[in-house]
Amino acid sequence: MPTLNPIAAPQQSRWHVFSSVEALEEAAVQRILQAAEDAIAARGAFHVVLAGGTTPRNVYRRLRNCEAEWASWHVYFGDERCLHGTHPERNSLMAQEAWLDHVPIPGNQIYPIPAEFGAEDGADAYVLTLEKVAEFDLVLLGLGEDGHTASLFPGQAWEQAEELRSAIPVHEAPKPPPDRVSLCPWRLSAAREVLFLVTGAGKRAAVDAWRSGAPIPAASIAPESGVDVFIDASLA
Ligand code: 6PG
Repeated sequence: MPTLNPIAAPQQSRWHVFSSVEALEEAAVQRILQAAEDAIAARGAFHVVLAGGTTPRNVYRRLRNCEAEWASWHVYFGDERCLHGTHPERNSLMAQEAWLDHVPIPGNQIYPIPAEFGAEDGADAYVLTLEKVAEFDLVLLGLGEDGHTASLFPGQAWEQAEELRSAIPVHEAPKPPPDRVSLCPWRLSAAREVLFLVTGAGKRAAVDAWRSGAPIPAASIAPESGVDVFIDASLA
């Protein structure tokens, strides 16, 4: 079981620099496929949490063309915007169009966050979904320019949360849309592996703050096995 408040546990981070975004994306694909192979061999299933935003899109596109035991994959989302499921800004739609609609993962093994019902109702529903899986095999995360990850933004209520809900409502997010649902740090940390994908010079300030030990939201993700952070050369 994850520690009750892994925010208190110091994050162990391993930084991997890639010469190009393409090299980073290919390494991420291989890491995901290997995690899946290991999980399926050991436990018969692979439980993976997808990152939103734009960075992972090409990783998802590459996965579309890969061979894998897709029937054993279970796909969750680290956060979702409170938009209709077909809205072009939905994280779930991005993953579907890039990848999930093109591989035979059973539909009842893909668990989009029902954020279209609003932040509170969407979070409540996803808390129940997350009760089905004690520990993820792999969590994919991005990094915002302000240091956020998933929809855990700096200076917001989650940082003082006492109640340890696995999924939380988010309002007034500085990155539109303002209303979202996010997994909380301890739930994102309840994972065998956590992999951050970070590209582009725009993330320089957030990466530098993170590497200097600043308590940015991304630093609150503290799985026992540590986190791996893939960055491209523009951020080295
Ligand atoms: C979201 C994402 C968010 C994202 C970062 C990085 O819903 O916006 O979950 O956490 O990962 O903001 O976004 P980019 O990959 O687009 O830079």
